[in-house]
Amino acid sequence: MNDSDQIDSDLDKSLRPPDFSEFCGQEKVKERLMLMVEAAKQRGDALDHVLLCGPPGLGKTTLANILCSGFGTEIHITSGPQIEKAGDLAGILTNIQFGDFLFVDEIHRLHPAVEEYLYPAMEDFRLDIIIDQGPNARSISLELPKFTLVGATTKAGMLTRPLLSRFGITNRLDYYRPEELVHIIKRSGSILNIDVEEGGALEIALRSRGTPRIANNLLRWVRDYAQVKADNIITKDVASQALAMLEIDEDGLDEMDIRILETVIYKFAGGPVGVNSLSVAVGEDEATINEVYEPYLILKGFLKRTPRGRAALPLAYKKLGIDPPKSGDVQQGELF
Ligand SMILES: Nc1ncnc2c1ncn2[C@@H]1O[C@H](COP(=O)(O)OP(=O)(O)OP(=O)(O)O)[C@@H](O)[C@H]1O
Ligand SMILES: [Mg+2]
Repeated sequence: MNDSDQIDSDLDKSLRPPDFSEFCGQEKVKERLMLMVEAAKQRGDALDHVLLCGPPGLGKTTLANILCSGFGTEIHITSGPQIEKAGDLAGILTNIQFGDFLFVDEIHRLHPAVEEYLYPAMEDFRLDIIIDQGPNARSISLELPKFTLVGATTKAGMLTRPLLSRFGITNRLDYYRPEELVHIIKRSGSILNIDVEEGGALEIALRSRGTPRIANNLLRWVRDYAQVKADNIITKDVASQALAMLEIDEDGLDEMDIRILETVIYKFAGGPVGVNSLSVAVGEDEATINEVYEPYLILKGFLKRTPRGRAALPLAYKKLGIDPPKSGDVQQGELF
């Protein structure tokens, strides 16, 4: 990590809401989690395991930290690919105290062999480990204190059935509405000590792809611009001039989104095209297209998913300033 990454990540932490009252939006998820926390605390019990899913930057890590801070216990942070073997998992679990949280980011990337060990740990708070090898091999069972596993994933669909079924409920985070992002931007503005007018915040919100992390990143850029060019006040005009310099359009689409739309329309005659061909054609990896670009393009009605691949909708043609095909089978609003 270089210095500027370090500064970014410190800033990220300072902008992170510390409790539910400052966590804006995701009302249904928030309400459910708050209720679970209250019930568990009343019983003096550990919280049930929680699964959080949704696209990057919507607040999964933030929520995991908020849940843990409500109990005043420790959070142990790891991620699916980081736990390479059963021994790694045992190392983490044997350090856990009653009521602690184990946050497993990218839980869909857990190794299958590790998952097997996780099941009894989640269900019966027991870890069965095999010691020795060959004829001396035997399994010993370790009792674990009751803990809460918080799993985060951008791809709930890739979770195995048995793992999914060990979480009580799935909490799906959705993209934020512009007015919620306005609220988040203003809050971040006051933490960063900058004056953000309503119109300026809205201008940033509309280009943030419904994502608080992007909103905060854009806010930092606009702040720099306002500092150098505009008396430190983020008005609507200042925000829109600053964002124009980044080449993010009024729908929040960036260069890669546009490249994806152009590729589907020009190279694949509007689709349908499989995500692997699309990934080769635009030079972006498949998972990023799937998890980052496509959900937003679908949400905004530019693309649709069909069994044979992705196809452009009339709005995509309009965005590129060309006429949609007349006889095509694409229908606006027919999203899924
Ligand atoms: N509801 C919210 N209110 C205010 N700020 C938020 C909210 N959700 C997220 N943020 C901000 O967005 C940033 C990104 O959130 P977070 O790291 O929790 O996302 P994530 O879902 O874990 O993303 P990833 O999938 O990339 O790990 C946080 O630093 C925080 O400042
Ligand atoms: Mg995260």
